[in-house]
Amino acid sequence: MKKTVFDLFPGFFGVFSRYAYPRASKRDMKSLVDSLERDEIVLDLASGTGIPSTFFINKKGLKFVLLDLSINMLRKSPFAASRVVGKAENLPFKDKVFGLILCGLSFHHFDDQESVMKELKRIIKPKGRFYIFEIDTNTTIGRVISLIDRIFNRVFFIEPQKFRKLAEKTGFIANIKRYDWRYALIGEPKALSQKFPPNGKER
Ligand SMILES: C[S@@+](CC[C@H](N)C(=O)[O-])C[C@H]1O[C@@H](n2cnc3c(N)ncnc32)[C@H](O)[C@@H]1O
Repeated sequence: MKKTVFDLFPGFFGVFSRYAYPRASKRDMKSLVDSLERDEIVLDLASGTGIPSTFFINKKGLKFVLLDLSINMLRKSPFAASRVVGKAENLPFKDKVFGLILCGLSFHHFDDQESVMKELKRIIKPKGRFYIFEIDTNTTIGRVISLIDRIFNRVFFIEPQKFRKLAEKTGFIANIKRYDWRYALIGEPKALSQKFPPNGKER
């Protein structure tokens, strides 16, 4: 397989990410992590070196799984979580196993974003949640970062509202949380009652 910039410079991306998440985002992720039961499993999707899960790795008895395309990024991960080399569009996991899925600064690298969302729907528990942290290209800083990223990578930045619609189309309810030039899409699977409300109209 062709080497990516992530295979070539895993250390650099680890350092960039460490400073890219604002405090408010860490707080929001922490409250999701804190709401989990002991023994739940957290997936850090396209984790690279393990950010954002590095922020929470010592929490309770939670188990963390890091998945990334790049073995070199996974090798740089500083903690002993399960590490899986894999592609977000075709995840090597059973159905309904994860209580929380984190995905930071990676969704814009996925070339088939609808398939990724369908995979998330398949592997998340019925009461699980996801937190996907992204760059908002409607902002000046976000646009500049996306242009720089474009020089080195194939990128598919998605606007917050379009992303929310994609999540709804693939069976989630989701909200957007903005942090200046970044945002998060936070969601959970639609309950059966939301998908098929008593009046028979699908939302
Ligand atoms: C900018 S890094 C972000 C890593 C980490 N989440 C962070 O916040 O530092 C993007 C990561 O996505 C991974 N990646 C890109 N496309 C992928 C795919 N289709 N499936 C899994 N991982 C992918 C890359 O190998 C890289 O490690």
